[in-house]
Amino acid sequence: MPTVLVTGCDKGLGVEFARQYAADGHRVIATCLDPGTAAATRAIAGDVRVMKLDVSDLAAIDALADALRGEAIDILVSNAGIGRPHPPFGRTDYALWQRMLAVNLIGPLRLAEAFVEHVAASRMKVMAFVSSRMGSIALNLTGGSYAYRSSKAGLNAVVKSLAVDLAPREILVLALHPGWAKTEPEARVDVDRSVAGMRAVIDRCSRHETGSFLAFNDVPLPW
Ligand SMILES: NC(=O)c1ccc[n+]([C@@H]2O[C@H](COP(=O)([O-])OP(=O)(O)OC[C@H]3O[C@@H](n4cnc5c(N)ncnc54)[C@H](OP(=O)(O)O)[C@@H]3O)[C@@H](O)[C@H]2O)c1
Repeated sequence: MPTVLVTGCDKGLGVEFARQYAADGHRVIATCLDPGTAAATRAIAGDVRVMKLDVSDLAAIDALADALRGEAIDILVSNAGIGRPHPPFGRTDYALWQRMLAVNLIGPLRLAEAFVEHVAASRMKVMAFVSSRMGSIALNLTGGSYAYRSSKAGLNAVVKSLAVDLAPREILVLALHPGWAKTEPEARVDVDRSVAGMRAVIDRCSRHETGSFLAFNDVPLPW
């Protein structure tokens, strides 16, 4: 069965990715900021390895890649992210912005660089980056959310370059939007539906769609 590595499995969409892939018989490497408190992830039945990873710690990403050297990873799901808060214009929290860039933008590229050989050695060869329609410049009609929007817009730019650079190695690179998923109380899309949708998109996409930005319901989004 394919092997999947998912980041940010302490809670939210990451736990659901790990749960669904494990339920389908995949070998799952679920990385958590703190495996000690990630009880829901540790309780998932199946072939699940829970490993520690802070994606803002570039040396830790390299160390994990070293620890997993020689292991093929079919689907790398870069899911870890910080989504809140969204201070308005005039009240920008610059420390938070730097933290969001480290977790949402810079860590994911390092993940791709550190794990490219693991993915290239696999059968499926997929790198999926959980982005957000908040990162779409074309769809930004409401302003605000400077830190989050810029981190996800930057991630989209990273996805596009990765798609071009890794095409010769036949690696499919995608930016995915989960919908407004109910890891947030007022949201609309059930978490299981969001993750099932993103998994279906990953399964459906062929190599020529590398560099696409797709929502959980397979709707293409403008950059
Ligand atoms: N939910 C939505 O509606 C929605 C919409 C668009 C995009 N997204 C994106 O979807 C992804 C998952 O979001 P979510 O809703 O599941 O959010 P969430 O419930 O806050 O979960 C985010 C996960 O990332 C982890 N994390 C935070 N900082 C990390 C770091 N430095 N290293 C490793 N893991 C870290 C969190 O760990 P802790 O629990 O320990 O903080 C948590 O497990 C994010 O990239 C988010 O931007 C979500």
